[in-house]
Amino acid sequence: MFQYHCLNPISKTGLDLFSDQYRNTEEMKDADAVLVRSAKMTEMELPGSLCAVARAGAGVNNIPLAECSEKGIVVFNTPGANANGVKELVIAGMLLASRDIVGGIEWVEQQKNQEDIGKLAEKQKKKFAGCEIAGKKLGIIGLGAIGSMVANAASGLGMEVYGFDPFISIDAAWNLSRTIHHSKSLDEIYTKCDYITVHVPLTDDTKGMINRESIGKMKDGVVILNFARDLLVDEEALIEGLREEKIKKYVTDFATPAVAGLPGTLVTPHLGASTEEAEENCAVMAVKELRDFLENGNIKNSVNFPACDMGTCVAVCRIAITHKNIPNMIHHVTKILGAEGLNIADLTNKGRGEYAYTLIDLESAASKETLTELQGLEGVSRVRVIK
Ligand SMILES: NC(=O)c1ccc[n+]([C@@H]2O[C@H](COP(=O)([O-])OP(=O)(O)OC[C@H]3O[C@@H](n4cnc5c(N)ncnc54)[C@H](O)[C@@H]3O)[C@@H](O)[C@H]2O)c1
Repeated sequence: MFQYHCLNPISKTGLDLFSDQYRNTEEMKDADAVLVRSAKMTEMELPGSLCAVARAGAGVNNIPLAECSEKGIVVFNTPGANANGVKELVIAGMLLASRDIVGGIEWVEQQKNQEDIGKLAEKQKKKFAGCEIAGKKLGIIGLGAIGSMVANAASGLGMEVYGFDPFISIDAAWNLSRTIHHSKSLDEIYTKCDYITVHVPLTDDTKGMINRESIGKMKDGVVILNFARDLLVDEEALIEGLREEKIKKYVTDFATPAVAGLPGTLVTPHLGASTEEAEENCAVMAVKELRDFLENGNIKNSVNFPACDMGTCVAVCRIAITHKNIPNMIHHVTKILGAEGLNIADLTNKGRGEYAYTLIDLESAASKETLTELQGLEGVSRVRVIK
C-alpha cells in the first residue's frame, strides 16, 4: 500500500487514477509521494518516507530541489500538460489584436440604454473594424509543447507560419505540420512576420530577447505576443515601439506595472493554463508519473533525476537506487549483490549532473542485509525494493 498526500487541491480526474493500492493521507509525515501545485515546499520538513514529489504544472521553484536530490526524492513535473490551454489563449490573443473586439464589446455595453442601438451599431461599427489573420505571416520563437501547437493551429487557420528553434526536440519536430517554414535565424522571423509570438523558457540567453534591436528589425505594425514570461521583453523598448506605432499591439499574459492599462496592449492576468482541462491534464500526468515510479521504479519527466524506463518488472525482484553520480558506484553495487549470489537479469544506470539512478532486476530476492549494505554505500541516498 502506498500513501500519497496532496498539498493543494488536485483534480479528481487525476486522483481517480490511483488504484486501491493507494491511500490518500491527510498527513505528509507518512507519505511516500506528494502532489503539489503552488504550496511552498521550501519551508516544509520533508519526511523520511517521502520518495517522490509530483508538481502538477511546470515551474518547480516552490520545491526544494537541492534537498530533494540529496535525499533521493525524485521530483516530477508535467511539461506540456497545459500547452493546449496556452495555445488557445495565444490564438485568441491574435484575433483580439487583429480586430477591436474588446473595444466593440465595451461600446455596446455603454449603449445599453439606447433604443436604437441596432441602428447606432451599424453606423459606428467601422470604428472597430480590423483585419483577418488568414494569409498573414506568424513567426514563432520556440517550438516546444506550446509553440508547436500554436504553429499547427495557426497554420490550420490559414496563416503562413515561420518557426525558429535551434534546440527543437525530436517529438516536437515530428508533431509539426509540414506547412511550417523552418527559419534558420531570428532575423528571418523579425523581418518577415506580421505577428511574432515567443514560447521559450526564461534563461540568461532569452531574457530581454525582444529588445530595441530586435524590434528595430520588425515590420511596421507588427503584433508581438508574449505568453511565456514577462522578462523576455525589454519593456522600455516595447513602450517606445508602441509609442512610435512600430508595434501595433502587444498581447501578453503578464501584467506588470509598465504594461497594465498601456495603450496598444492587451494584457491578461496569467490565464494561459487556467482551464479546467489543463488542471485535469496536469493531475492525470502527475499521477501516471508517480504510479510508474512507485510501482515500477521508472522515471519520466523528472527535473532532478535522469529518465529511466525498464518497463514492468518481470524478474523476481527489482531494486531502485538513487545515488551520487560518482565513479565505481556500479562496481560497488554489483559486488554486494554478487557476494550474496544474486544474479542480475537487467540493469540500467543513468546519470544527470551530480546525481544518478540505478534500476536492477534480480533473479532472486535480495536479503535485508544486502539491502542495508547497499544503503550504507557512500553516495547512496536511497534504496527501494520495488518488487
Ligand atoms: N502563460 C502561461 O500560463 C504559461 C503556461 C505554461 C508555460 N508558459 C511559459 O511558456 C514557455 C514555453 O512552454 P513550453 O511548455 O512550450 O516549453 P517547452 O520546454 O516544451 O518548449 C520550449 C522550447 O523553447 C526552445 N528554446 C529554448 N531556447 C531557445 C532560444 N534561445 N531560441 C529559440 N528556441 C528556444 C526549446 O528548444 C523548446 O523547444 C515556458 O517556459 C513558460 O515560461 C506560460
